[in-house]
Amino acid sequence: MMLNQTVIFLLLWVIIDLVVGITLAGKIKLSDLHEQKIEQRLKQLNKPTVKSIHSPDGDIIDCVWIYHQPAFDHPLLKNHTIQMWPKSDSIRDKTGGNKTDIIHQLWRTKGECPEDTIPIRRRTRDDLLRSDSIETHGRKNPPTIFPTTYHLPDDQKEVHEHASVHLDYGEYHGSKSRISIWKPDVSNTTEFSLAQTWVVNGDWDNGLNTLESGWQVLHCMYGDNNTRFFTYWTSNSYGKNSCYNLDCPGFVQVNKDVALGAAFNSISTYNGKQYDFLLTIEKEQDTGLWWLKFDTYQVGYWPSFLVPKLADSARMIAWGGEIAHDASGQKEHTSTQMGSGHFAEEGFKKAAYINSIEYIDKANYPIKPSPQNLEAIVTRPECYNLKVGSSRRWGTYIFYGGPGLNPQCL
Ligand SMILES: *[C@@H]1O[C@H](CO)[C@@H](O)[C@H](O)[C@H]1NC(C)=O
Ligand SMILES: *[C@@H]1O[C@H](CO)[C@@H](O)[C@H](O)[C@H]1NC(C)=O
Ligand SMILES: *[C@@H]1O[C@H](CO)[C@@H](O)[C@H](O)[C@H]1NC(C)=O
Ligand SMILES: *[C@@H]1O[C@H](CO)[C@@H](O)[C@H](O)[C@H]1NC(C)=O
Repeated sequence: MMLNQTVIFLLLWVIIDLVVGITLAGKIKLSDLHEQKIEQRLKQLNKPTVKSIHSPDGDIIDCVWIYHQPAFDHPLLKNHTIQMWPKSDSIRDKTGGNKTDIIHQLWRTKGECPEDTIPIRRRTRDDLLRSDSIETHGRKNPPTIFPTTYHLPDDQKEVHEHASVHLDYGEYHGSKSRISIWKPDVSNTTEFSLAQTWVVNGDWDNGLNTLESGWQVLHCMYGDNNTRFFTYWTSNSYGKNSCYNLDCPGFVQVNKDVALGAAFNSISTYNGKQYDFLLTIEKEQDTGLWWLKFDTYQVGYWPSFLVPKLADSARMIAWGGEIAHDASGQKEHTSTQMGSGHFAEEGFKKAAYINSIEYIDKANYPIKPSPQNLEAIVTRPECYNLKVGSSRRWGTYIFYGGPGLNPQCL
């Protein structure tokens, strides 16, 4: 009896110990795994650096040997030979790459990357921890940034608002425009505000393909509220094959003066000096490369195999502003601003603009669309609005934006 009890006790003890042991081991394993994943992801994102530049905004910009850039992690780019320049005549405006004295980004006030390197914004543990999971980091989440299509599940409370214009059902070889730079207040770290162009083909259900670029304030990605230059691409409706900047292999960068995801040096001020940049996304016919040009710099390209629906041309081009806010449990509208935070009718120096709007047609000529051919999408005109116009000096343009929360927008 006594012995039996002892045996049972011992057995129980062993079992309990085992169970507890397994659980503890499991926990340790999980956190180890998480730790390993973070380390792995950081290693994947941050390439060996030739030189590092500490930007005043806290960013570290790594100058990475051009053939060590993330694009070469893509299986189809393993043997890729970088094309430093658009070669074919389909790109009619080949000027670019020439050095200018203008410093567009803050980090460039502290130094410059050597030849044959490209600047990459270093990713930190905090960047990864801020994002929901390591795997989705760098992807738009939730995936709803397309102006005409709202694919929000019923239970999703994130609301996206647009003030944008687009051309649809065409065969476009590119988008060209000049985008003014602002720093809108974003009232919650879960929200964002941006201005951009979209180059789109395919449809949501069968795989939307987009190439996107502009500026954004996106706390969950960058950990601050600075206005940053960004690019984005997706080949499956903002699903797994999608990402920002150089966060997944695909975009091939050739330029050493512009860092994707880095903050701007100069921001427009209300009724003061206005800053903008020329932004072009244009397909090179012979090579199938979609070139991204920022002001005079050819920044790099997306090979069209990344976005197969854009292999021939884009069906839609769009320009405008967008904000996202979490409407769950929110009693009033967010006060997150779009553009300058002022409505379109305030006009130059007060409202944000995108001017010199052009598309590249299928004969590769830049064409100025007439304002009446631009279709506008303004989701909540009492919160953010838009004005389309045309003039000799500005070509086709929009003013857009607004303050969000106000007596008409509650
Ligand atoms: C890259 O080159 C190697 C060696 O020549 C070859 O085996 C491989 O198939 C190539 N990969 C691609 C994606 O072209
Ligand atoms: C860029 O530099 C090249 C070579 O110096 C010159 O031929 C070309 O005209 C320049 N382009 C611009 C836009 O200044
Ligand atoms: C960014 O804005 C959010 C929301 O207004 C604020 O909570 C946060 O402190 C700001 N972050 C920085 C780094 O300024
Ligand atoms: C930010 O949004 C979250 C989610 O809606 C909310 O819980 C939080 O209170 C908000 N923070 C501020 C400062 O408004």
